[in-house]
Amino acid sequence: MDEIPDDDDRKMSNNTQWDSYLTFLLSMIGSAVGLGNIWRYPYIVYSNGGGTFIFVYVISIFLVAIPFMFLEYSIGVKFNSSVPQIFKSIKNKFEIVGWFIAIIPFLVLTYYACVIGWDIIYFALSFFKGWGTNTDHFFLQTVLQSTDSLTGLTYIAFPCLFAILIVWFIVWFISHKDINAGIGKVNKIMIPLIFLIMGIIVFYSLTLKGASFGLIKLFNPNFNEIYSTHIWIAAISQIFFSLSIGEGILITYASYLPKKTNLIKSSFIVTSVNCGFELFTAIGIFSILGFMSTTTGININDLVTQGTGLTFIVFPMILNIMGPVAYLIGPLFFLCIFFAGITSAISFFEPITKAMEEKFNVKRKKVVTYMCIVGALLTMIFTTGAGSYLLTIFDKILNEVGLFLITILESIIFSWFYGIDKLLIVLNKNSKLKIGRWWKVLIKYILPILLIFIWINEVINTFNTSSTKLIINFIITMIFILLPLMLTLIPSKSSQKISTLKKP
Ligand code: ALA
Repeated sequence: MDEIPDDDDRKMSNNTQWDSYLTFLLSMIGSAVGLGNIWRYPYIVYSNGGGTFIFVYVISIFLVAIPFMFLEYSIGVKFNSSVPQIFKSIKNKFEIVGWFIAIIPFLVLTYYACVIGWDIIYFALSFFKGWGTNTDHFFLQTVLQSTDSLTGLTYIAFPCLFAILIVWFIVWFISHKDINAGIGKVNKIMIPLIFLIMGIIVFYSLTLKGASFGLIKLFNPNFNEIYSTHIWIAAISQIFFSLSIGEGILITYASYLPKKTNLIKSSFIVTSVNCGFELFTAIGIFSILGFMSTTTGININDLVTQGTGLTFIVFPMILNIMGPVAYLIGPLFFLCIFFAGITSAISFFEPITKAMEEKFNVKRKKVVTYMCIVGALLTMIFTTGAGSYLLTIFDKILNEVGLFLITILESIIFSWFYGIDKLLIVLNKNSKLKIGRWWKVLIKYILPILLIFIWINEVINTFNTSSTKLIINFIITMIFILLPLMLTLIPSKSSQKISTLKKP
């Protein structure tokens, strides 16, 4: 029988571990609960058939997301190493795939940090409703100084630049410490606060006039939608992003777990807390939108926009008509987004940190410092006048093309080249609830085929665009290929033998 590495072996190889199961769970929840839950989910539910979407979403959780969580957690515990090292240990030439997986979340972080930066600006403004009455003009022209084309690349929006430097400093400050003193401690503080603050906002929003109108709009099912492929694709890409699947995060966080961990139970806990939180948040947001719609007569359709518009244009507009309570609800809302953003940001950063640490045999502090500088420089692109234009393109290609490709590669490599049975042993080892053949069939046959179909669809969509966007997409694709290739080709400086990493 293939054994899981022994905890004593890990201590001998100096591998870090979470100081408790709770620290792992809170860190995993911190990674999952993020901007995607607060600004993306409500919009996606509403624009994809409301109640029908929720039904499709629940099916996607059980048939797609949870099987992938099982896969990524078991890989992390089994191999107890960084993502590129894991892939290399299966076949040398797979190391490039590992680097691809470690780099994608870092690239996502470069624009995710920018959105957290905007949030910091709005948190400060919320104490005096500093956005004025024309919230649309204020966000696009005063804060972003957006041109919605590449012409804006020649200048920088200084408030955004200042804000992103704060975000990267915070990421550095948390991540340069060891995982328990940094990531673990911050999640122990921030996660309870996120739930407390969101609880206050949602309960208050339910008391508002028009709340039920907003909720009816949110949940009203449109069963015709169930047959359209786009609703299924929207549900799967939302649940992947929301649970941080396909970003090397689950593998990396699970690699810090002791072998006695019940991975099946952990997957269910993280999924239910995350999905419960996003549903709860959507209830709050739509109650507030219902209040706005009944108070001003504006149609809810015109209020619900993509995430950033909802948070930074519509929400300030609502706070403007809310009276004095807005001075409490506003700062709480932006503070909650900040906490949710930071706990996810540090998780995006971890796969590349661990990978660099291991490959180049350098101290965590040094890797984190260099990578934060590189990250901050890259995020500066999003603080130019072309920032929000580029951000939308980056978000689309990374999430809709990159993440799907990662999940396809993971399922193929681990079921066809490594052997899914070995991971099944890891999964079932500490759980009373046993996972059976259905999981193997899903990961080996059904999900790769389904995801390849979706991926081709997404590639065609992404590249079927204007010539400027096509060139940008082409450049990003080159980065996807060249960076992992370069990192693979650089010889490893690691002198340390990873004693627990077993070749299959
Ligand atoms: N899972 C994180 C989110 O939803 C990244 O924002």
